[in-house]
Amino acid sequence: MTGDGTRAVRAGLPEAAANEPTLPGPVFAAHYHLPGDGGGPYTYGRDTNPTWTLLERAIAELESPGADTAPAETVAFASGMGAISATLMSQLRPGDAVVLPDDGYNLLIPVRERLAEIGVEVRTAPTRDDGQLAQLDGAALLWIESPSNPGLDVCDIRRLADAAHARGALVAVDNTLATPLGQRPLDLGADFSVASATKALTGHGDVLLGCVTTRDPALAAAVRGWRKIVGAIPGPMETWLAHRSLATLQLRVDRQAQGALALAEALLTRADVSGVRHPGLPSDPAHETASAQMLGGRYGCVVSFVLPDKPHAERFLAALRLVDDATSFGSVRSSAERRARWRGDAVPEGFIRFSVGVEDPADLVADVLRALDEAAGGPAADRPADGGSSDGGPAAY
Ligand SMILES: Cc1ncc(COP(=O)(O)O)c(C=O)c1O
Repeated sequence: MTGDGTRAVRAGLPEAAANEPTLPGPVFAAHYHLPGDGGGPYTYGRDTNPTWTLLERAIAELESPGADTAPAETVAFASGMGAISATLMSQLRPGDAVVLPDDGYNLLIPVRERLAEIGVEVRTAPTRDDGQLAQLDGAALLWIESPSNPGLDVCDIRRLADAAHARGALVAVDNTLATPLGQRPLDLGADFSVASATKALTGHGDVLLGCVTTRDPALAAAVRGWRKIVGAIPGPMETWLAHRSLATLQLRVDRQAQGALALAEALLTRADVSGVRHPGLPSDPAHETASAQMLGGRYGCVVSFVLPDKPHAERFLAALRLVDDATSFGSVRSSAERRARWRGDAVPEGFIRFSVGVEDPADLVADVLRALDEAAGGPAADRPADGGSSDGGPAAY
């Protein structure tokens, strides 16, 4: 198998053909010429698109590079939520039980509510200490998010997948934070690897996209079928931008992991900072499990920590010069936010989720330490009011 960087650069590219581009441009088509009885690979734009085909091949190659496994198939979506909903809704029926994390991405909360409304039994447990293990009897599907967002807990995916399969349950892993270069859930026994490609996979903070990858053709067909009926399809331009971004995936995730570790280590030295979490920190409670199942020292770009209170955290965010106060994570540009502003996560008011970009780590650490000093002494900043969703659910990303 070639190295990760080489695979990322070439993933999904078509065979070289004279006078053709190496990565063909986006195909914008609602319909294709379709004489007679129709058929062929491209028929109607909600079903298929050649630009999707190339990106889907690329992600499948990254999620499942081994030559000794069944080939994987990826289905691309308009967003990570499209991918998550399609996986759950294509598999679960009224009367089924599903085991979800109670500390995962907070839009899982309204998803849980919808599932319960259609008669699915929803069970939840924490990611840490493999808490979901105790909930598996009689379940149809186990949903794992490791590392979890925003708490950065980690579970033993292989152990949970083996236990779920022994009870006849399918296993899906949200691999958003790790990316396929940091963790390969299918190799750890999962049936589905699901991700918000909006984050580190595409990595520029300018595209929304999601993906589901599986080695089981019937599961892939079910997810694809769900995409078709809900129409949660990615735009060709976003799809092409995503594929173009994959070429730098290894460069980005390596640099982000390096910067995240440097930041976490610097934060550990501060008396005004508590609860520093990053799976790459040797002292982190998640480190042992993370290092056994995550790849290449790529523990992700997120560091979380707690400042004494809301005003202190607001002063810190306002004092940062190299870091955007924004939700989401995984971009080349660092961002940070006071997570409690969304009211969807069980975190203290001063909890900061920090996403490390590809800036020089020394510059970033210096900016953070300076902002912490200012926050410790400075006046309360004039900050906008709390965010919140218009549709009743939490609305953080
Ligand atoms: C872990 C995780 N999964 C899924 C999603 C949803 O992705 P999207 O915003 O692309 O719909 C997010 C968004 O923040 C996330 O953090």
